[in-house]
Amino acid sequence: TNIAVFASGTGSNFEVIVEAVENGSLDANIALLVSDRSDADVLRKAEKVGVPTLELVPKNFDTKAGFEVEILQHLRSHQIEWVILAGYMRLVGPTLLEAYSGKIVNIHPSLLPSFPGLHAPEQALKAGVKVTGVTIHYVDEGMDTGPIIAQEPVKISENETLASLKKKIQYVEHDLYPKTIQSLIQRERKGGASNEKTSIS
Ligand code: GRF
Repeated sequence: TNIAVFASGTGSNFEVIVEAVENGSLDANIALLVSDRSDADVLRKAEKVGVPTLELVPKNFDTKAGFEVEILQHLRSHQIEWVILAGYMRLVGPTLLEAYSGKIVNIHPSLLPSFPGLHAPEQALKAGVKVTGVTIHYVDEGMDTGPIIAQEPVKISENETLASLKKKIQYVEHDLYPKTIQSLIQRERKGGASNEKTSIS
């Protein structure tokens, strides 16, 4: 199963997905890493492990549709079946959503629907909640709004700092993302309808 990872930043989730493929716990081929930022560390990481990269900067395109049509051509030529967003800081538009209906997933550092958007750990701390977590969900046109596939809680302790919370959240992300991708792929192979948007527990 060919997958593409989309990322804009550090790429720690990309790295654990690569490791999971290498150690055999994720039965997939990372056929492409797509980044919308040419300064993203994740690009270097992909080059190091020999994953083909596609670097496309949206401001070089007149429209979002044009940008996504270009991405789509690359996804098709690499025979990509699943699109895995891992710190991709951009909303996916109708062009990609229609072509990959039910096949685009995202990871978000909160228990959605709480704290969507860019600053989820900060907002959880500020709100004083005692539990936040990680959500993996199908992507739709909204910001962190698609059907939920998997969630894992993270407790917030008395003396939690933003740095310590982010670390705890990433630890959980790195465990949950590869294994959830594996479950999605396995379920599809067993004949579960590919776009049957049910959760995995
Ligand atoms: C993760 O915390 C993820 O939940 C969010 O962006 C972050 C990406 O981190 N969507 P990394 O680039 O994988 O290290």
